[in-house]
Amino acid sequence: MGGRAVRRPEFAAADLGRSWSLFNSATLLRPVLETDRTRVLDEVEAFYAASNAACPRDDFLLWSPWRVPGLDARGWKLHDHMVMMHRGVNAARQTPPPQGLTIERVCDAITLSTFVDVVARAFPFPDLRSAPDAWDERVLSHPRLRFWLGRFDGHPVATSATVVAGGLNGVTLVATLPEFRQQEFGAALAWQAATAEPSLPSALLAGEKPRPVYERLGFTPITPFTVWSHQR
Ligand SMILES: CC(C)(COP(=O)(O)OP(=O)(O)OC[C@H]1O[C@@H](n2cnc3c(N)ncnc32)[C@H](O)[C@@H]1OP(=O)(O)O)[C@@H](O)C(=O)NCCC(=O)NCCS
Repeated sequence: MGGRAVRRPEFAAADLGRSWSLFNSATLLRPVLETDRTRVLDEVEAFYAASNAACPRDDFLLWSPWRVPGLDARGWKLHDHMVMMHRGVNAARQTPPPQGLTIERVCDAITLSTFVDVVARAFPFPDLRSAPDAWDERVLSHPRLRFWLGRFDGHPVATSATVVAGGLNGVTLVATLPEFRQQEFGAALAWQAATAEPSLPSALLAGEKPRPVYERLGFTPITPFTVWSHQR
């Protein structure tokens, strides 16, 4: 699918060359000490400054479990506060999925486009809506990626995805369309993603509001995460 990636001792960064900030993310791998801070941020910014003709004006993100003071002064904006959560294989079990809800694995391009549409409307991710080509069907054959679409009485209403990596089910993109919330669809989709490989524990990054949904499934908090964004 193209894109660029770099891994340094202090951070890992990926730039998929697509206009959706979540695809263009760097994660700090160790606390950036006062002495290293300027150099590390210079390196992150230089990585994303390398021209990307497909999306010259999009944002890129920096994810950090540690405080990184002074980012505002460098043109970064606070994007979100999140908490990393973990669930062991024997943690609480989900009750049967709500009546009328079916969950299917996304296996073809048409269903993938429906999945992206639900994600874009549910979060909402306006930049994803304006970039319908952000995903292509090659993601469906990647052995580590699984995408789930929930339908209620046949209508697409909710999503989740699993990234199987590092001995974990990495849960992401849990979303329910606003008009279908409070019916445990989000919990059912999160459960599906968290148990994609039932023998593995799972982890996710939760916003403060959705956090109770995950706690009821047996997820416990590990560490806060701060997400910053910067225009390319
Ligand atoms: C977070 C999100 C996925 C939850 O979706 P949902 O389908 O409403 O999830 P659930 O129904 O399982 O649970 C949500 C709430 O509904 C409540 N609920 C569940 N079933 C209910 C019912 N039958 N009656 C009343 N309330 C109910 C839950 O207790 C929960 O309440 P709480 O958060 O106050 O504890 C949805 O709000 C969303 O898409 N948000 C935008 C995207 C997002 O932030 N995703 C999460 C990223 S970490």
